[in-house]
Amino acid sequence: MKLGLLILLLLVSVYADTYSPLSYVDRPCGMDLSNLWLDVVVVVDNSQGMTNNGLDNVAANILNVFSSGTRIGSNSSEPRTTRLGLVTYNSNATQQADLNKYQSINDAGNGIFDSLSTVVYTADSYLATGLTLAEKMFIEQSVNTIRGHYKRVVIVYASEYNEDGELDPLSVANRLKLSNVKIITVAYEQPGSVGLENGLSQIASPGFSFSNNVVNISQEIQNALLQSNCFCPSNWIQYHTSYSDPASSRYGVCLQLVGVLANWVAAKNGCRMKSNTNLATEFNQAKHDFILEAVKDNSGFQRNPYQYHIGLNYINDDWVWDQPAGQPPVKLQSWFNWGTGFPNAPASQSAVSNIQSGVTTKWTNVAMYTGAANYVCETYSCDTDNYCDDNY
Ligand SMILES: *[C@@H]1O[C@H](CO)[C@@H](O)[C@H](O)[C@H]1NC(C)=O
Ligand SMILES: *[C@@H]1O[C@H](CO)[C@@H](O)[C@H](O)[C@H]1NC(C)=O
Ligand SMILES: *[C@@H]1O[C@H](CO)[C@@H](O)[C@H](O)[C@H]1NC(C)=O
Repeated sequence: MKLGLLILLLLVSVYADTYSPLSYVDRPCGMDLSNLWLDVVVVVDNSQGMTNNGLDNVAANILNVFSSGTRIGSNSSEPRTTRLGLVTYNSNATQQADLNKYQSINDAGNGIFDSLSTVVYTADSYLATGLTLAEKMFIEQSVNTIRGHYKRVVIVYASEYNEDGELDPLSVANRLKLSNVKIITVAYEQPGSVGLENGLSQIASPGFSFSNNVVNISQEIQNALLQSNCFCPSNWIQYHTSYSDPASSRYGVCLQLVGVLANWVAAKNGCRMKSNTNLATEFNQAKHDFILEAVKDNSGFQRNPYQYHIGLNYINDDWVWDQPAGQPPVKLQSWFNWGTGFPNAPASQSAVSNIQSGVTTKWTNVAMYTGAANYVCETYSCDTDNYCDDNY
């Protein structure tokens, strides 16, 4: 079992480190839990409704989530670490561990089982108190650290959902989400706990609301953490499976719509000013459609007709996709979006723009050094395979 997991992890990291679009797929988000870099506060209901048994399960679950090699604590020579704080709440919230307390998974294990050994006497359970304390910890315990740019995540385990006047959790949850904190919720359903999951789903970030009844809650939380750790620099748009659904699965790809006018070569060089960046690829229709929707949403882009350069160009008798500096281009494969009659002879028109045709845009080959249009760059997301410092 341990060996199996180890091999799996090795495979995952080998795959990750050798990501290559030769397989003609967009870069996935990093999936390497051992390189998770987050600040996480776990907020646990320890009122009567949770029961001792439930609390024990929560402790085991938290430990499970972080036992795939995640480096707990902070380490001045390794930025890819995860700080883990712990809060319990009932009628009021208590900080069981600040974000700097646990410096290894063993520390965390001992501390968590200790703090979550028994429920308290009260049946009162006000999540708002726990969330408010978590918010305060993120702010106060990031002073004098280099972790200002780390993504923050709250994991809530709750047995009840109360929205009582000033203790309504919704407003603090909304404030957290507005300041870019992700919230994962786990409903500990008890007989008679009415509306728990429904209430918690309003608190959770899109797609991050779970029940402890799912097949493998540890795995769900791990995936949510990996997705939380996969993000784009400001002014870049993360490629998702659905443009309109923020809960849809993220790719490890960020897109930037550049509203200045440039010829194709200038556009390509403009993208390359940043490392691991190239003119965008459109390996399939989903990516093309996503980019087009983003373009239509962007008032800074030329329209009537839309025209924007992408990474397709003609080199040594092949149409290929641009890649980051130092990487070989990728040959055009199966999905094609050529406009009617295109491509023209590539000799003098060896670069490609998407040009509007009705409600969509079609690939049209154009000259490399003349003719100006907007363009779309793409880069790697920040994630477990790609640490980004605060200048990113
Ligand atoms: C900190 O990170 C370095 C580099 O990865 C590693 O060699 C060292 O063991 C880590 N220290 C602790 C206390 O985990
Ligand atoms: C909850 O804790 C805070 C801070 O420790 C305190 O100011 C407040 O009075 C407490 N509320 C209750 C209901 O115990
Ligand atoms: C649940 O997921 C965790 C973490 O991915 C894994 O270690 C564990 O073996 C899984 N449990 C079951 C019963 O599949």
